[in-house]
Amino acid sequence: MVVMKAAILYESLTGNTRTAGEMIAANLQQEGWGITGVCPVRKPEMAAIQDADVVIIGTWVHGLFVVGQAPWGLGAINGLPAMRGKLAATYCTFALNPAKTLDKLDKAVSFLGAEVVGGVALHRSRLPAHTEEFVARLIANVPVRA
Ligand SMILES: Cc1cc2nc3c(=O)[nH]c(=O)nc-3n(C[C@H](O)[C@H](O)[C@H](O)COP(=O)(O)O)c2cc1C
Repeated sequence: MVVMKAAILYESLTGNTRTAGEMIAANLQQEGWGITGVCPVRKPEMAAIQDADVVIIGTWVHGLFVVGQAPWGLGAINGLPAMRGKLAATYCTFALNPAKTLDKLDKAVSFLGAEVVGGVALHRSRLPAHTEEFVARLIANVPVRA
């Protein structure tokens, strides 16, 4: 059996996005995936990224709640190592309305060379249910390698 391996990189100020990353890791492990690392975007573990088939990148929505929403930490995400040949999935945590945050995050991650297979916005007060949904969708969208 081929075991898919994921690395999870998060940008987090008050901990929600980090918690979401840890929940995603636990859920993926329950589904039989390997986790090569869970680390902050600003302290990326190079080996974890290198060894992963899928790199999961999460951040939080910053804005004025009804306008100006954007992924926080795009500069740090843009500075991640190139990820050519890897799949990627994205998530953002939010309080009210993520607007186009995921689109902007996906663009940045695509620019690193990864193929983005999808992303989910996770409400900060529903992280257990929304991270389960993220993992279910990820598994449904990742082609299993022969
Ligand atoms: C300065 C600031 C601006 C925010 N702007 C928005 C926003 O525009 N829309 C929204 O839905 N949530 C907004 N939030 C809520 C955060 O996105 C949410 O609490 C998120 O889960 C924080 O992630 P963290 O705990 O990993 O830092 C904002 C939070 C802060 C601190």
